[in-house]
Amino acid sequence: MAQTALNFFEWGPFFEEKKIGGIFAPLFQTMAKLGDTELGDFPLLLAPMEDVSDPPFRFLCKEQGCDMMYTEFISVEGLIRDAQKSLQKLDIYEHERPIGVQIFGAELDSMMRAAEIVEEAKPEVLDINYGCPVKKVVCKMAGAGILRDIDKMVKLTDAVVKSTSLPVTVKTRLGWDNDSIFIEEVAERLQDVGIQAISIHGRTRKQMYKGEADWAHIARVVENPRIHIPVFGNGDIDSPQKAVEYKNRYGVDGLMIGRASIGNPWIFRDIKHYVETGELLPSPGIKDKIAVVKRHIDHSVSWKGEKLGVLEMRRHYGQYFRGLPEIKTWRSRLVQAPVAEELHQILSEMERAYSHIDELQLVK
Ligand SMILES: Cc1cc2nc3c(=O)[nH]c(=O)nc-3n(C[C@H](O)[C@H](O)[C@H](O)COP(=O)(O)O)c2cc1C
Repeated sequence: MAQTALNFFEWGPFFEEKKIGGIFAPLFQTMAKLGDTELGDFPLLLAPMEDVSDPPFRFLCKEQGCDMMYTEFISVEGLIRDAQKSLQKLDIYEHERPIGVQIFGAELDSMMRAAEIVEEAKPEVLDINYGCPVKKVVCKMAGAGILRDIDKMVKLTDAVVKSTSLPVTVKTRLGWDNDSIFIEEVAERLQDVGIQAISIHGRTRKQMYKGEADWAHIARVVENPRIHIPVFGNGDIDSPQKAVEYKNRYGVDGLMIGRASIGNPWIFRDIKHYVETGELLPSPGIKDKIAVVKRHIDHSVSWKGEKLGVLEMRRHYGQYFRGLPEIKTWRSRLVQAPVAEELHQILSEMERAYSHIDELQLVK
């Protein structure tokens, strides 16, 4: 269950002053702060991802320099009914801080009660998910479903803000579909009821994950002089070059990265290094990759138990070893191995088999 927090940081004013304009934003950007904790000039956030951003994966992303992380989304109905799966997602560890717990729901009373439960787990932030496009969430008017009823979204958010002393943030999409992109209005109204940061995925619910994320709408929120909370941009950041290009072009206060981190927690290190020096780091070699995969397995087993820990690692191998020649046979051995010890043996064999491959040949 949730670890006792040693520190509690107040979210506080995230930036001393709001930057001016999109293109020139880097010149004016000020230090990102989380209470007394400085997140740096340009924080990189690990996106909340169901079945991915659990403590074992978060450990690796933190190691690679991720500035702020979120739990997988947690159903408020599950939380208030003590559902084991929901409660387990409240597990947070000191090394992960600062961390946000993300909830989703549609009922006012449940959201308020869940906010109290989350507070007991002592994260730095409570984040509300208004972006999940999945049918079974949307049809209950939760996640992105609420993008069809902005008044209700504002009401729910207001209630959550009032139910907790934690800083509340929101993650959402541009709108329900192309005809209902109200993100500028949404950001203002949510700020008015007290949220302290907003993360915007530049797609509509209708797009799901198709097409390209449209960051022009995100930039409009950033440039709105009424908006003084941090705006984090999200959608399709998959390389250091793109990260810097979008940072400069759209003026966001930080980047939230999801899919590109799966099988590649090094992306945080790579982007940081590129932002600071303009140089690209070489891809991790096979030895480094395998060492990280082994650690991922060990963390997974120690947090979930041997059976589930081994089982749930299966979804990661494809991404970790993407681009390796003749990977199919190895992958099928990895997904059939029943215990961690056997996985370690296979991975050691892989390391020897691929030792001739130049690290630059590996696709990240
Ligand atoms: C496997 C998976 C699970 C996700 N689960 C969540 C979630 O629990 N909460 C949430 O707000 N978004 C969730 N998302 C959306 C991501 O946080 C992010 O907004 C989206 O992937 C776009 O960012 P990206 O292009 O960097 O991946 C999920 C995405 C993926 C691929």
